[in-house]
Amino acid sequence: SPAWPGIVNAYADRIAVPAGAKVITLGEGGTPLVEAPHLSELTGSRVLLKVEGANPTGSFKDRGMTVAMTYALAEGSKAVICASTGNTSASAAAYAARAGLTCAVLVPRGKIALGKLAQAVVHGAKILQVDGNFDDCLELARKTAADHPVALVNSVNPVRLEGQKSAAFEICDVLGRAPDVHCLPVGNAGNITAYWRGYREYATDGVLPAAPRMFGFQAAGAAPLVRGEPVTHPETIATAIRIGSPASWTGAIKARDESGGLIDAVADEQILDAYRLLAGREGVFVEPASAAGVAGLLAVAQDGRLPAGSVVVCTVTGHGLKDPDTALLAMHEVEPVPVDAGAVAAALGLT
Ligand code: F0G
Repeated sequence: SPAWPGIVNAYADRIAVPAGAKVITLGEGGTPLVEAPHLSELTGSRVLLKVEGANPTGSFKDRGMTVAMTYALAEGSKAVICASTGNTSASAAAYAARAGLTCAVLVPRGKIALGKLAQAVVHGAKILQVDGNFDDCLELARKTAADHPVALVNSVNPVRLEGQKSAAFEICDVLGRAPDVHCLPVGNAGNITAYWRGYREYATDGVLPAAPRMFGFQAAGAAPLVRGEPVTHPETIATAIRIGSPASWTGAIKARDESGGLIDAVADEQILDAYRLLAGREGVFVEPASAAGVAGLLAVAQDGRLPAGSVVVCTVTGHGLKDPDTALLAMHEVEPVPVDAGAVAAALGLT
């Protein structure tokens, strides 16, 4: 059978691209939906992980980028630009390289994970490290795209979300139903908006009888949607969601309210606990932001907001290798051992 064709071709009837366009794809989507036995036991529900770190550049951003880059090329753009906390820039850099377009990325200086910066470097993007946060970067990217002939590939570009909604289709297609609850981290709020669009589309078209309740989780130090107002100085160890003024604010609130869901905050310590649990008990290595949805799941299971026996999907949005610094900080020390079989056995507690 042929290779997985990427989300534009897999869902050609649901994701529009310009007529005759050359589709720019790296085979994104088709990611694993993995049972999470330990989380299931802890929560009294059936929990599955949608492992988006398995995408070509290691995050869910690739689902939107294939569509955005296909449009940019078809419309004759020579260059693309984006603001990013790291994953969007990594994805844009890779897909632009594939399309033969110039790519410029604006990132908050010192606040993006090492692996993501490495990706932008190897794919040849022009990297602008801005002395500010993501919200400053996005404002600069929007202004530059408004005044110059470059295509903006942030999720404020509506075709990005059209691509990202494909993850909801995949979950339903694999499960044969919609989950009862969908948990995910929320930063700029594009992804929760896109998932809700996908679930609603399947429900409206009668593919499925129901859509899930959307449970979004922000980091406590960067939780504008929970507080109800922008946060001027967002702070969290989960740099991917260190955002104070989400672009898809209304989309997130609609997803919450139309689905009967919630958007809540989780502390950095909760995020790191979930991060360690995912890696140490489920065998799934994610970046810190990705663990926010699981931290939220554990909280709502404990305080009763999650009905027992639910079918829950948590999107884990990005690969753990993106952020080796946090992994090495959060995990135990690795001790040196001499070349000596006795010492190895002793170090392992076998003697
Ligand atoms: N998880 C990861 C790993 C992310 O990179 C992001 C966003 C999110 C969650 C939140 O998704 O913004 O759609 O609510 N990263 C963006 C970036 C902002 O620039 O890569 P969202």
